[in-house]
Amino acid sequence: MKTKVITIANHKGGVGKTTSTATLGAALALMGSRVLLIDLDAQQNLSFTLTQNEDPDQSVYDTLVNDAPLPIVGVGKNLDLVPASLDLARAEIDMATKIAREGILKVALEEIKDNYDYILIDCPPSLGIVTTNALVASDQLYIPLTAEALPLKGLTMLDDVVREIRKRVNPNLRLGGVFFTRYNNRNLNKEVVRMIRERYGDLVFETKIRENIALAEMPLSGKSIFDYDAKSNGAVDYLALAKEVAERNNR
Ligand SMILES: Nc1ncnc2c1ncn2[C@@H]1O[C@H](COP(=O)(O)OP(=O)(O)OP(=O)(O)O)[C@@H](O)[C@H]1O
Ligand SMILES: [Mg+2]
Repeated sequence: MKTKVITIANHKGGVGKTTSTATLGAALALMGSRVLLIDLDAQQNLSFTLTQNEDPDQSVYDTLVNDAPLPIVGVGKNLDLVPASLDLARAEIDMATKIAREGILKVALEEIKDNYDYILIDCPPSLGIVTTNALVASDQLYIPLTAEALPLKGLTMLDDVVREIRKRVNPNLRLGGVFFTRYNNRNLNKEVVRMIRERYGDLVFETKIRENIALAEMPLSGKSIFDYDAKSNGAVDYLALAKEVAERNNR
């Protein structure tokens, strides 16, 4: 299978990007795929969730700014991580004078890409040069959404960025899917889902990730949701999502 490189992004904060990267990654690894997760957020939430460590020896910052090879750490069976560090908060500035800075991650990934079936990239809640690096290195963008307030306006901005990247640097990039997180069966949620389906059609995954306390507890437990509480709605929903992801990518 050709490696699928998937960016999980939405510049809106707190929509479940990091939870989805960690848990979708763990689910795909559980199903037997070789998975690499990349943390591009200076908040280090993904790195902390997977390693309980906020001070890695080397981080993706060293790759983006100092041309170091991607530092890879094993975090489980079939599951590896490229950690983030706090100094990523400075990366936008430190990369400003670098030539072809949008393509740094893509070039670094070429070296190791073939070792994996899936590479999932967790992004910060912004659309700067770091998120652009993820999108340039990727074949697909997945957008997690909460169905709370009208998200359409923000999505237009994300669509514009994808269009520009496709036109100028990475014609392979496509929107691979949209999915709902923190879902409640409230009328407002249903209405938002209806509107998003109208706009994105089949790109919207059938599986909705329900609001689930075990998912919120998981980062502090040092375990994946499948080890922390395999019977929780969170574990059930992300496994269902992973099956849809695998189906879409094996077609
Ligand atoms: N399905 C869920 N049910 C309950 N809580 C959730 C769920 N998904 C995520 N959370 C919690 O919501 C918060 C935001 O989730 P997460 O960190 O994954 O979002 P994010 O988009 O990565 O945020 P940021 O934009 O800050 O990076 C976290 O505290 C997380 O534990
Ligand atoms: Mg996050």
